[in-house]
Amino acid sequence: MKLQDARRDHYRKLAHEQGYRSRAAYKLKELNRSYRLIGPGFFVLDLGCAPGGWTQMAVKLAGNKGKVMGVDLSFVEEIPGARILQGNIEDESILDEILDYFGRKVNTVICDLSPQVSGNWSIDHAKQISLNYDCTKIMDKVLQPKGNAVFKVFDGEYSMEFRDFIKKKFTRVNLTKPPASRKQSSELYFVCLGYRG
Ligand SMILES: C[S@@+](CC[C@H](N)C(=O)[O-])C[C@H]1O[C@@H](n2cnc3c(N)ncnc32)[C@H](O)[C@@H]1O
Repeated sequence: MKLQDARRDHYRKLAHEQGYRSRAAYKLKELNRSYRLIGPGFFVLDLGCAPGGWTQMAVKLAGNKGKVMGVDLSFVEEIPGARILQGNIEDESILDEILDYFGRKVNTVICDLSPQVSGNWSIDHAKQISLNYDCTKIMDKVLQPKGNAVFKVFDGEYSMEFRDFIKKKFTRVNLTKPPASRKQSSELYFVCLGYRG
């Protein structure tokens, strides 16, 4: 077995054993270990949450004093400790439900969005980055000053433009790839700390 396959199997097995719906949960866990995006009692908004691995991990990290909401176009089975909203993050009318649920601004916004891929890399990359810009519109309404965010990007020609855009909103932005993310995949994560508000 190739090293990459062995690693993928390792995370899949771990997710199965520990009751996570996707091995993606470990990407968030690893990002959190390095950057402490989510701590006990945090309010967390998860955009593009299906099937729910990140939401489950966010519930665990935020603990019983925290509050977590996951949003996705697709149906997501209930996750104990979280509220799921089936909706489109491109539609700003979902904001009312988000704000109603939390009742105050959130500490962290986590975005792991992927469009339905067409197979045409330039189109998929542009669409994925465009979803991130939509997330920042929601983020600007819900994130508290000094809050944190993370954005997945399909790396390509518009990634750095997005980084420059997001850099103006945070005191620190780091580009990273957690070990649980497959080496061959083009996904990278912008970890953003200290929202300027
Ligand atoms: C890679 S998956 C997320 C995996 C998730 N973080 C986990 O740990 O299980 C990306 C998700 O983005 C969602 N998505 C794509 N476009 C969306 C949109 N416009 N509004 C809401 N969700 C969207 C997809 O439905 C898909 O479930």
